[in-house]
Amino acid sequence: MKLATYIAAGAIALASTAVLAGSHGGGSDESTEMEESMGMDNAMIIEAALAGGDAAAGEKVFKKCKACHQIGDGAKNRTGPALTGVVGRAIGAVEGFKYSKGMLAHYEAGDIWTVENLDAFLTKPKDFTPKTKMSFAGLKDAEDRANLIAYLATFSEMEMN
Ligand code: HEC
Repeated sequence: MKLATYIAAGAIALASTAVLAGSHGGGSDESTEMEESMGMDNAMIIEAALAGGDAAAGEKVFKKCKACHQIGDGAKNRTGPALTGVVGRAIGAVEGFKYSKGMLAHYEAGDIWTVENLDAFLTKPKDFTPKTKMSFAGLKDAEDRANLIAYLATFSEMEMN
């Protein structure tokens, strides 16, 4: 009985994925290159991030992050890890960066930087990631966070090309 339920649930999940893919381009074979190279989930996270805010406004908010983070082509790890491609990426996954145990626990749990997770982390880093090394109080303004996440997402798109 249990197995049958799983199979049925899988079929429903597949069907709804097909519907979503179809609604993008009108045909099931017309899913964008972005979706093919990164997988549906990832592309949807990036799209949601871009749609949720104003990236140009977010670039100004990013000034608060620049003391510790680089983003873009050739960005390097500094006090904080390079943030190029962070939207949709596994948490704590930049090679060569020494994350806190709290951040590595997210990685081990298979957590992803979705819009929701980024929003929670940026609201109050220590609430989302206990004992994080990121000494940043957080951004209180929801619009600032949404704009910033949209800005970060523009670099996830870049990485795909
Ligand atoms: C004072 C330095 C500092 C500032 C300012 C700062 N960060 Fe960080 N950030 C860090 C450090 C250090 C880490 C690693 C945290 C850990 O391992 O717990 C980090 C981690 C992150 C991560 C997780 C990255 C990954 O690879 O999983 C994100 C996302 C992030 N910061 C975004 C931001 C944003 C956006 C801002 C600006 C609003 C910001 N940070 C401001 C130091 C900083």
